[in-house]
Amino acid sequence: MSKRLKVWVSRPLFADVLARLEQYVDIDAEAVERVHDAQELGRRLAAVDGAIIGLADRVDAATLAGNDRLRVVSNLAVGYNNLDVEALTRAGVLACNTPEVLNETAADYAWALLLAAARRVGAAERWLRAGQWRGAMRFDDWLGVDLHGKTLGILGMGRIGQAIARRASGFDMRVLYHNRSRLPEPVECECAARWVDKAGLLSEADHLVLVLPYTRDNHHIIGARELALMKRGSVLVNIARGGLVDEAALAAALREGRLAAAGLDVFEDEPVVHPDLLALEQVVLSPHLGSASADTRRNMAELAVDNVLAGLGVGPRAGRPPAPINPHVLAMRGRGGKA
Ligand code: DGY
Repeated sequence: MSKRLKVWVSRPLFADVLARLEQYVDIDAEAVERVHDAQELGRRLAAVDGAIIGLADRVDAATLAGNDRLRVVSNLAVGYNNLDVEALTRAGVLACNTPEVLNETAADYAWALLLAAARRVGAAERWLRAGQWRGAMRFDDWLGVDLHGKTLGILGMGRIGQAIARRASGFDMRVLYHNRSRLPEPVECECAARWVDKAGLLSEADHLVLVLPYTRDNHHIIGARELALMKRGSVLVNIARGGLVDEAALAAALREGRLAAAGLDVFEDEPVVHPDLLALEQVVLSPHLGSASADTRRNMAELAVDNVLAGLGVGPRAGRPPAPINPHVLAMRGRGGKA
């Protein structure tokens, strides 16, 4: 009887999804959510053929050193800045992610943060719960800023950015976007969005949403200089990655009243939130929940399982993973790459 392949699942997942994985491979699934340090991660990955991991698991050349067994790393996220894809490719390891299935859910959440930040929902609720709503409330208390009729700016116009743009018509908003490359005209028409350069986006948008992937090149793409270009009284929302924003500079812009509010789902040093942001009532802080709806998290887990099984050459899609990041690794197999 041939030996079964082994897959490590670094975080607790839906039991029925794990049961499907276990039909094809042996699994070692973590029952408790925790962070694995680099050494433990390296040890775990060296002991398996495939792994399903989360964003807190950072895989680089050092983690993979001396690992001759691992063939697939399946990331439970669409963003994969936790993976050194070059190092994985050099090691002959297929990397996969979970695109598409979370687009609409993440777009909904961008709007949730935008609305909550613009209309001060978080601070008002804290005030009410603290028993502060006693007598008559002043007519000019708790004034927020409008979204309807304003200009929405989107930095990063991939599928999630497009889904955010499509929702803007319900608020009668004009949509501008900036992306390295312009979208094809039919897509721009469908999203009712117009490409502008980055400076134009910053200066024309009343409210700005960040939805671009994080890379070394766009670290702090929104810093003091960019914040100074933004309209007075605008709202910034970040659902992408914390490292895109210079958090100290953002806090300063909010403190000085240049920006009205911010809605942040991601932070540079998660789960640690910059103390200057924590101190500001006008920031809606959210613990990286962009994809966290029951349906979508389940779909992401299913896709991660499909990826790892197919990458290992088992299951109904054997050899055809639905979402490979470095698909050329598959082509290398049998040509001197890992079998
Ligand atoms: C992703 O998938 O990259 C998201 O940030 C997870 O919520």
